[in-house]
Amino acid sequence: ASEVVDQLFPLFPDKKHYSDAGPDRCRTCAVVGNSGNLLGSNYGPLIDFHDFVMRTNKGPTEGYEKDVGSKTTHRIVYPESAVDLDNSTHLVLFPFKILDIQWLISAFTTRHITQTYTKVPSTIKANKDKVMILHPEFIRYVYDNWAERHDRYPSTGFLSLIFALHICDEVNVFGFGATSDGIWHHYFDKTLTSYEISVHAGRFENETINRLQQENKILMHKGWT
Ligand code: C5P
Repeated sequence: ASEVVDQLFPLFPDKKHYSDAGPDRCRTCAVVGNSGNLLGSNYGPLIDFHDFVMRTNKGPTEGYEKDVGSKTTHRIVYPESAVDLDNSTHLVLFPFKILDIQWLISAFTTRHITQTYTKVPSTIKANKDKVMILHPEFIRYVYDNWAERHDRYPSTGFLSLIFALHICDEVNVFGFGATSDGIWHHYFDKTLTSYEISVHAGRFENETINRLQQENKILMHKGWT
């Protein structure tokens, strides 16, 4: 593991991010999940109005601008969900395994890793100077303290939301939530999975998110379901 980390830091700039907190700063963030409740929402302009717009996994903007907006400041991915980015977007890797970090290095250098537990892109378009890697300890912290160790690991959206709570002053949440019958639908494709069978604790995550909303820590925009 330490060998991999030794390769990692020379490759990606080690800037201090987000250390400008203070009473004068109000950074607004939109965390955009991939729920089908975004369809028909007309949230696009509202989402784009935030300082940071964080999107997760493959959730596209092209063709869905009216409902999801077009700005992306942060794209949170793991290798299996990575997509090409434009030059201004931060690629934020949430590493779940050493191979995820090895893939990131490979994607920007040798391009030899094409397979993890499934096929992954050998390279991606992204600005190397904007790459960020979340410390794996943060995933552990979210799992232990926020997901209270429910199921196997927290979902990307849930991790992103907790991440946003730590770096933003105001967190607005879009595109979270299954249908009333527990179907985890996407705004951009037709695959439906029930979150009862997922590796994520969809139900528990939702309860936590609802509690954060009740405590006014976040503002949920529920769209149409
Ligand atoms: O499905 P995917 O993991 O790409 O979706 C990104 C995130 O959006 C999820 O991790 C989840 O937190 C959220 N989501 C949701 N309800 C859905 C679909 C996704 O809350 N129906």
